[in-house]
Amino acid sequence: MKRFLYGIDFGTTNSALAIYDEDSKKIHSTIIIPSLIYFYHQLNTGKEKNYVVGEEAINAYLNDGMQGRFIKSIKQILSRSSFSETRIHNKRYNASDLVAIILKELKGRADEIVGQDVQKAVIGRPVFFDDDNVQKDTLAQNRLNKAAELAGFTEVRFQFEPIGAAFAYEQTLTKKEHVLVGDLGGGTTDFTYLILDPAKVGSKDRKKDMMATGGIYIGGDSFDAAFMWERGTPYFGKHTTYEATPGKVLTVPKSLFANICSWEQMNFFNGQRIRKDIDDYYYYSGKDRKFKNLITLIENNLGYSVFQAIERTKIALSSEQETDFTYHQMEIDIDEQVSLTEYEQIIQKDVTRITNYLEEFLQQNNIDVTKIDSLFLTGGTSMVASIQSLFKNKFPHITLNSGDNFKSVAKGLAYSGYLFED
Ligand SMILES: Nc1ncnc2c1ncn2[C@@H]1O[C@H](COP(=O)(O)OP(=O)(O)OP(=O)(O)O)[C@@H](O)[C@H]1O
Ligand SMILES: [Mg+2]
Repeated sequence: MKRFLYGIDFGTTNSALAIYDEDSKKIHSTIIIPSLIYFYHQLNTGKEKNYVVGEEAINAYLNDGMQGRFIKSIKQILSRSSFSETRIHNKRYNASDLVAIILKELKGRADEIVGQDVQKAVIGRPVFFDDDNVQKDTLAQNRLNKAAELAGFTEVRFQFEPIGAAFAYEQTLTKKEHVLVGDLGGGTTDFTYLILDPAKVGSKDRKKDMMATGGIYIGGDSFDAAFMWERGTPYFGKHTTYEATPGKVLTVPKSLFANICSWEQMNFFNGQRIRKDIDDYYYYSGKDRKFKNLITLIENNLGYSVFQAIERTKIALSSEQETDFTYHQMEIDIDEQVSLTEYEQIIQKDVTRITNYLEEFLQQNNIDVTKIDSLFLTGGTSMVASIQSLFKNKFPHITLNSGDNFKSVAKGLAYSGYLFED
């Protein structure tokens, strides 16, 4: 029987699994799915499962009139000690249960391809799950480990995601290089500086080659949240005023809108709990048209579809100078022109934090920039124009390389089988 190992990149936005044939030492194939779960609105007793995963989750959510529970960016709850569980259809799900749903889906699809129940996996993890708080980080890795166990893996090793990316890049090299790798995803931005050497592929001890790793909790989701805040929330009443007491006019609290900007809040946002306040603001705003959109958004679970429109705008601006941000659903009508310059202003704070972090990473690890032979960038967010400029400006003399932005990490994880030999 053939021996296989899975390299698994459980990502904030996308999750990938590379099937590695341990005998031929080659990747057989790679599967990728969006990291999404949709729990049907109605518990359908005829169905085996009450949820769907990946691409199918989007279709089911739309077909179901967007009424069920749509869960996105689950990875972000791994490090939240405040999250213990959520109840869906009277069943409790903790963080590991939710993550296990994604891992199980990937494993099931891969097992079907190879015709075996493969229980050995190298799973990626960001350098820091959150900020560099050790307790939160340990909590996140333990939860991920538990999820892997629930999904049916019995032999698991963890590897930093950017090292995975580096090993994928190493496959394309013909000589030894000092490489700076940047993996910019949906939730985190990770760096690693290491020596890559095609002669060392698969060798047991690569520790000496890893010169530095680091990361920051900013990614494409942060850009989308910033865009929602600046260009989305005004359509949902961010500037709405209401009559607090006769003659006293105030603006509705901004905190209401924080809930609709972040996925972490949106996933488990209980609109009902603050519903009375929202109804009061609506009434005392003189039934403001835009504030009504907030009620429509919450009542109809429209969050994901609004964020899809935001992501479309972002992706268009990776190759165009100007695009539109449009959204038309249940009398919510958004039609905006957005130029790249405007977009870059909106995400500037986050891009500056990434820039500063990169600077700190280079300094703290005493990285001599003149010794870097090449740069390898991966992850969906590496395509954002400001991110491309950041690296081009910072390292004008170093070639910028990229591979498959969505599968590199999983592939490189699959090349990390040496971790089992410790
Ligand atoms: N063409 C594009 N231009 C800009 N951003 C893009 C593009 N395509 C995808 N993205 C963004 O890239 C992010 C997803 O990238 P990726 O799949 O690498 O992340 P991930 O691995 O799921 O997240 P993480 O590694 O942080 O856990 C999303 O924020 C998505 O909106
Ligand atoms: Mg990633």
